[in-house]
Amino acid sequence: MRILVTGGTGYIGSHTCVEAINAGHEAVVFDNLSNSSEESLNRVRAVTGTRPVFVKGDIRDRAAVSALLDKFSFDAVIHFAGLKAVGESVSKPWEYYENNICGTLVLMDELRKHGVFNFVFSSSATVYGNPEKLPLTEDAPLSALNPYGQTKLWQEDMMRAMACADPRWHIVLLRYFNPVGAHPSGLMGEDPNGIPNNLMPYITQVAIGRLRELSVFGNDYPTRDGTCIRDYIHVCDLAAGHIAVLSKINDMPGCDAVNLGSGHGYSVLEIVHAFEKAIGRPLPYRIASRRAGDAAECYADASKAERVFGWKTKRGIDEICRDAWKWQSMNPNGYGQSAS
Ligand code: NAD
Ligand code: UD1
Repeated sequence: MRILVTGGTGYIGSHTCVEAINAGHEAVVFDNLSNSSEESLNRVRAVTGTRPVFVKGDIRDRAAVSALLDKFSFDAVIHFAGLKAVGESVSKPWEYYENNICGTLVLMDELRKHGVFNFVFSSSATVYGNPEKLPLTEDAPLSALNPYGQTKLWQEDMMRAMACADPRWHIVLLRYFNPVGAHPSGLMGEDPNGIPNNLMPYITQVAIGRLRELSVFGNDYPTRDGTCIRDYIHVCDLAAGHIAVLSKINDMPGCDAVNLGSGHGYSVLEIVHAFEKAIGRPLPYRIASRRAGDAAECYADASKAERVFGWKTKRGIDEICRDAWKWQSMNPNGYGQSAS
């Protein structure tokens, strides 16, 4: 298949390009580089031998999207492009609605006009809001806790409505749990701007000495060790999930949501200790107060992905920590330095 990968220079998109190329697909990346570097595609080449075609552009730019779709005929689209920082979305809601909602509307309208209807969307477990029942199944109630989550929920709603109105759409909403880790080569990984908000990049930057210590946000939750529990999924497993979807998408008319998670929850302290094992030394951390908005526990029922696509995670927490550390230690400045 020839696949359009919007946001393909980003963290998950670039790892998905690797899996796509390894599976024999052709990837064309469309990205405005607002949160990524084209260097990630050189790393895709270093890992696979093939550099995806890159077109710099913005999904909100109708003329650019239309020109792209005139130039290439695509069998499917994987839509990663979007803004993703929860805290930033609270301080800049307009930017999040404009980028994620307007951009997706332009993209889907142009796809429709160009006859491209196989569509895989990067949704998030954030659409479940504060979980009422665990593990989370796809039919759990949906709600949004912040503007970022609102954009994911609205995009899902838009996609359900479009598929309902036009039977030509085949849309799969992939609800990611917590993507972490890096390609095992150490050449590709997550390269966040500024001080990371998420746990794993924060941990790796403490380990490399860029940050002093990790603050563990709360140890008084009703969990086995008092710290929050999440479902961490290796980014290569997540990327492989998209390729499994592509192999079935022609048989999936309509719009369907599927969790991509491991089905296992790990506490913050369990992650810290697994990481200490990976680096062979203690990680400086302290217990801090709770972070507003955090749920005590969140993990997937991942059985639908296995049932529908034959996909499940292969890598556990030790590989996640090993690969995250390899990436960070080989690239202390992320993509700011060239491939070694
Ligand atoms: P990322 O920021 O690394 O990648 C997103 C890419 O989209 C970036 O390369 C950015 O430059 C590009 N982009 C943003 N706006 C664009 C626009 N208007 N036009 C063209 N390109 C644009 O993020 P990621 O972690 O790879 O996430 C990919 C997708 O998965 C996002 O939609 C995100 O919301 C979703 N998601 C991520 C996580 C996570 O923890 N990383 C969890 C759930 C869902
Ligand atoms: C966060 C977002 C979620 C988004 C997901 C994807 C919030 C409230 N939720 O999920 O919407 O889809 O990222 O990236 O921001 N932790 C610490 N110390 C830290 C950082 C995190 O103890 O410095 C803890 C958190 O309290 C949480 C766990 O680690 O319990 C995971 O946090 P994080 O990586 O930010 O992910 P989520 O909050 O699950």
